[in-house]
Amino acid sequence: MTTDLLVDVHLSEDDLRAALEQDVRNGLGASPKSLPPIWFYDEAGSQLFEEITRLPEYYPTRAERALLRRHAADIAAAAGADSLVELGAGACDKTRLLLDAMAAHGPLRHYLPFDVSDEFLRSAAAGVADDYEGLEVHAVVGDFHRHLDRIPRKGRRLVAFLGGTIGNLVPEQRQRFLFDLNCTVGTEDHLLVGTDLVKDPKRIVAAYDDARGVTAEFNRNVLRVLNAQLGSTFDPGRFTHVARWDGDRQWIEMRLRTEAAQTVHIAQLGMTVDFEAGEELLTEISAKFTPSGVAGELWDAGFVVDGQWGADEGEFLLTLAHPFC
Ligand code: SAH
Ligand code: TRP
Repeated sequence: MTTDLLVDVHLSEDDLRAALEQDVRNGLGASPKSLPPIWFYDEAGSQLFEEITRLPEYYPTRAERALLRRHAADIAAAAGADSLVELGAGACDKTRLLLDAMAAHGPLRHYLPFDVSDEFLRSAAAGVADDYEGLEVHAVVGDFHRHLDRIPRKGRRLVAFLGGTIGNLVPEQRQRFLFDLNCTVGTEDHLLVGTDLVKDPKRIVAAYDDARGVTAEFNRNVLRVLNAQLGSTFDPGRFTHVARWDGDRQWIEMRLRTEAAQTVHIAQLGMTVDFEAGEELLTEISAKFTPSGVAGELWDAGFVVDGQWGADEGEFLLTLAHPFC
């Protein structure tokens, strides 16, 4: 039975709709075409991402879980928090390792998972509330580019941003995001960021272009979201999934490529979008980092690093930091 679950919603249907319309007009009206990743995550998209996390090629989830298993106790001790905020919480799964470590270290009072994917967040948060008696679970549905200041201030907080999701922001967005976060956290609060590390591009590409084609389906899901929400005529089968490593910018790009020229109509926007043969639509970047790079970006946004924990093979990195004033 779910007893202790509160849900705040900062994204109304109207608000989401207006944001989607604006993103589609801007992104598909531009050259080169792009769409922001937030629209991947309807219920089906969130389920597909969960499937990605279990793929043999997708190492980040396993690597991050292993790090949390090994170091959550040290992280909990260093943070000394009684409240866990989780940005882009998804299935709230790895989080449990942090919750357990925090409860073992001292009183654990609040868990505040934050995500854009409403239904998925509710059911994941309800699962945590069921399993942790006495923990107040307060889920927040919002966009982390706009609603960080709406997260209730409860207790001494550890703000976790796991899964390498920070790498899905372009550098300017990332800086802005960290700066905004710095403005909303208290001087006693801590930030825990999970970042994927630069490594052999072959392994990275395989993680984003799996043999079973789950990532390809996830990528194409954004077209299904547009069809359902805006009455567009995308035929997902006519777009090929492309995962390409950009060595200069140290990120992997996800694109949807059309081999033949085609025209798509977006009924509810009165918009016609022409694709040339071979044209690609950029749907996501996932930046890979170095430990000093992460520390430098945090410093620029007003955070000082307390500790960094990396896997033996340099697969993935957890960084704990706190605001320096
Ligand atoms: N933390 C989980 C999920 C990572 S996937 C893990 O490590 O496995 C990225 C998550 O961020 C998804 O749950 C997605 O719904 C959420 N998300 C993506 N863009 C968002 C945004 N702009 N605001 C809030 N949540 C967002
Ligand atoms: N945060 C995840 C990552 O960067 C998101 C992700 C994994 C993703 N696979 C994807 C996004 C494929 C788009 C397409 O690893």
